[in-house]
Amino acid sequence: MGKYILARENGRVIPKEDKIFGINKLAKEMIAEKGKDAVVNATIGSLLDDQGNLVVLSSVVDVLKNLTPVDYADYAPIGGTPEFREAIKKAAFGNYVPGCHTEAVATPGGTGAIRNTISNYSDYGDTILTSDWYWAPYGTIASEIGRKLETFTLFNADDRFNIRSFEEKVNHLMSRQESLVILLNTPAHNPTGYSLTLDDWKAVLQVLEEAAVPGKTIALFVDVAYIDFAGDSEEYRKFLPLLDGLPENILPIIGYSASKTFTLYGMRCGAMIGMTPNPEIAAEFKLVNEYSARGTWSNSTRAAQAVIAKIYSSPELLQKVDEERTQCRDMLVRRGKAFEKAALEVGLAIVPFDSGFFASVPCANAEEVGQKLQKEGIFAVPLAKGLRISVASIPESACSMLPARILEAMK
Ligand SMILES: Cc1ncc(COP(=O)(O)O)c(C=O)c1O
Repeated sequence: MGKYILARENGRVIPKEDKIFGINKLAKEMIAEKGKDAVVNATIGSLLDDQGNLVVLSSVVDVLKNLTPVDYADYAPIGGTPEFREAIKKAAFGNYVPGCHTEAVATPGGTGAIRNTISNYSDYGDTILTSDWYWAPYGTIASEIGRKLETFTLFNADDRFNIRSFEEKVNHLMSRQESLVILLNTPAHNPTGYSLTLDDWKAVLQVLEEAAVPGKTIALFVDVAYIDFAGDSEEYRKFLPLLDGLPENILPIIGYSASKTFTLYGMRCGAMIGMTPNPEIAAEFKLVNEYSARGTWSNSTRAAQAVIAKIYSSPELLQKVDEERTQCRDMLVRRGKAFEKAALEVGLAIVPFDSGFFASVPCANAEEVGQKLQKEGIFAVPLAKGLRISVASIPESACSMLPARILEAMK
């Protein structure tokens, strides 16, 4: 007898309720009971303004409102419209022009890019590698398609990127598998806010170059879902040239999401962009990922593709969107810095933080601390290694106040 009435288990561990949505529900119930001012809801993974409303870029909405019926009613080609494929590369690479061959395939959000990368660059039963602090859907996606997820330790005792742990895990998995998919979420990692430095990047690539012996393959998925909210957009793209010119059995794949960058979370738009010195590998990338798209979600949302293509076809429009986003990004950066500063002041240890939607507090009994905080109207997400705070969803004043309250609850 399986675990389910009719459904098949297929090796999956399926919780009764999504944890984050569950806690968010509790926060909403408390707001309904005690009012907005009594609750700090630091669970939500979308950027909210100081009043708790979703931030939506009005410049993007204007483009959306002016779409033609065909723009939103027609099917998009499986891999995305040609204009979108070009526009999304510009969005991902910024001013940097790669010297290698690049191929973009449209996906429903960054999530689709993760799914296709795992399904096309690992074998059934393989193990995928990511860091020990990670976005939980990585595990869900892997288990849905018959893969396992293993982690390396993200930070060493000096709170720096733990290159030794990374190297150990890469070498171990490469000794067992023909190919290895690695998921690295940077800059502005979810859930810690960490961004790999250029030195981290160089060390990572050196490990990969040594591990990728002839006959074996490494797909390095760089999840840049938060890149446009990390800080100066060119500064945070400085790692990209390091991915250009790697041996051809190492395939960097940029996982780009329109959810945050264009505040189009619900429009399900994103892309996977392969970077390779070999045109045949680029053509294969397009072929296999379009095939997988056909067999899962078919094509992606045309309206979102049209919006992004139109923005990139007009320098004025692009400037307007960039300027509007910069203001929101600066608000987010201020919140993150306020949280970091207050933590330092009260003596609350946090996981190395750089920028982004989230910061994390390491603690062994995160569930217990989280529940204690909930009684005081503070809602955060307990993870295996600590508590995740969404600075994206709370005002700067709450970011400054939270560390003392968390420290108190931990005591
Ligand atoms: C780390 C990370 N990667 C990827 C995504 C992909 O998001 P979407 O599929 O909405 O583009 C998210 C969204 O929360 C995320 O946190």
